[in-house]
Amino acid sequence: MFPVVAGGAALLLFNSCSTTPTAEVAPLEIPGAHFVGNQVCAQCHAQIVREFPASPHARLVVENLAAPAGVACEACHGPGSRHVADGGGAKFIINPGKNPDACFRCHLQVRAEFELPDHHPVIEGRMSCADCHDPHGGDIFKPADGGLAMARRNENCAQCHREQTRPFVFEHPAGREGCTVCHNPHGSVNRALLAEADDNLCLRCHAQTRTPAGQIFIGNVDHTPLLQMGDCWSCHTAIHGSDADPRLRY
Ligand code: HEC
Ligand code: HEC
Ligand code: HEC
Ligand code: HEC
Ligand code: HEC
Ligand code: HEC
Ligand code: HEC
Ligand code: HEC
Repeated sequence: MFPVVAGGAALLLFNSCSTTPTAEVAPLEIPGAHFVGNQVCAQCHAQIVREFPASPHARLVVENLAAPAGVACEACHGPGSRHVADGGGAKFIINPGKNPDACFRCHLQVRAEFELPDHHPVIEGRMSCADCHDPHGGDIFKPADGGLAMARRNENCAQCHREQTRPFVFEHPAGREGCTVCHNPHGSVNRALLAEADDNLCLRCHAQTRTPAGQIFIGNVDHTPLLQMGDCWSCHTAIHGSDADPRLRY
């Protein structure tokens, strides 16, 4: 397979939907190959080309491409002429399912997340972006979405993490809002991909109330002595749900 190399000539431009300034990204290069456009891909990959317009990348990449119009497929796969001339195969095409570098060119921040001390092993090649993102369809995860998209997110995590996603007699409703309430899916400075290292992880939803006498209550339970003894989840160890204890301790 070819290494992902940055070309110096034409720059591929795209606007971030945030307030950050327009970024410039060099298009992918494959020696001796040039862009052919999505319609050529359609000859042999009709299904993918048909579903692709629903993908956020169809819009994000096409709208701002300083390369010939309609080469969105090749923004991730590299120029396709030699692949086409060769009749297909893996030889002259970049597959970001095998190497995420093509994604990282535009998503530098995401690369930084996968380099944090605890992370899903994508850079190590044991997982792929495509394990959690559909690169071609309309349902690539939308971070701001609630409702169904969230349910789907947990469903996706459930493929690999059955113990945390199975039905429990006593559910922890926090998980209904998505695993990402407590875990950063790409990587984290904290162990187990936790979004916060300490009790703040829980205190976002479980208010502590202080009595005039200085006792700290959580719900109806006086936690004053308990809080000296460790993290919330050193006692509430069945944090994803329990079959025995409604207070999620075992
Ligand atoms: C956002 C980047 C991105 C874009 C844009 C993109 N792809 Fe892909 N493509 C991927 C990734 C990632 C994989 C690996 C999927 C996997 O491993 O499950 C892939 C896999 C493939 C494959 C081989 C596996 C399969 O699903 O059959 C084909 C063929 C393909 N893409 C064609 C296309 C075509 C045609 C287009 C344009 C309509 C396109 N891709 C647009 C990222 C992209
Ligand atoms: C002449 C037919 C043909 C055309 C045109 C074509 N492909 Fe392919 N492609 C194939 C065949 C055959 C394979 C191997 C079987 C498969 O994975 O579906 C393949 C495989 C792929 C793969 C997977 C490579 C891997 O790592 O296994 C990707 C990605 C891909 N094509 C992208 C594209 C893109 C993007 C275009 C348009 C620029 C395109 N193809 C145009 C026939 C074609
Ligand atoms: C040519 C540049 C480019 C490439 C290559 C690229 N992306 Fe993107 N992607 C963008 C832009 C621009 C956005 C919108 C702004 C943002 O969220 O950074 C975006 C957004 C996303 C989103 C959020 C979508 C949403 O609806 O909020 C995901 C997930 C994503 N990309 C995954 C990938 C993956 C996985 C790959 C590689 C297979 C990839 N991207 C390759 C440019 C790119
Ligand atoms: C373990 C599953 C998983 C893997 C693997 C994964 N992602 Fe994500 N990604 C998510 C989830 C879940 C979200 C939504 C995050 C949220 O809502 O806080 C997300 C959000 C995003 C976003 C939009 C928000 C942001 O953080 O910028 C981009 C872009 C993105 N992913 C790109 C990638 C790329 C590129 C790869 C591969 C290098 C990848 N992801 C691999 C689960 C994953
Ligand atoms: C394709 C399989 C796969 C998917 C999908 C997946 N993971 Fe993982 N997850 C892994 C692997 C592999 C590891 C690393 C385990 C190791 O290194 O021993 C891991 C590790 C973790 C860890 C850290 C465990 C520890 O003991 O440090 C957490 C937390 C986690 N994943 C949560 C999630 C969440 C949340 C999602 C959904 C957004 C998700 N995973 C989706 C495979 C997956
Ligand atoms: C209320 C916060 C919270 C939610 C929501 C949550 N987790 Fe966790 N998760 C934790 C804590 C706390 C740990 C224990 C970390 C430690 O061992 O220090 C953990 C640990 C893990 C581990 C490591 C193995 C283990 O059980 O200790 C995996 C894998 C994991 N979570 C997956 C998931 C998945 C998948 C989801 C979504 C269904 C999810 N988590 C939702 C808080 C949460
Ligand atoms: C996204 C919000 C959210 C987060 C974050 C969260 N929880 Fe919860 N938790 C809830 C909800 C909602 C309930 C249902 C009962 C309630 O309303 O108190 C609940 C119930 C519980 C219960 C059972 C309480 C009872 O009355 O039976 C315990 C124990 C608990 N959580 C501990 C934790 C711990 C420990 C953490 C941090 C690792 C945490 N929670 C993080 C929302 C959350
Ligand atoms: C040293 C152990 C310990 C620690 C640490 C601890 N708890 Fe508890 N927690 C308990 C016990 C014991 C109960 C009461 C169980 C019972 O009576 O059934 C309880 C009860 C609860 C309840 C249920 C309250 C109610 O109204 O019934 C919630 C919610 C809760 N804890 C959240 C937390 C949070 C959030 C933290 C961290 C800030 C935390 N706990 C730290 C031991 C602990």
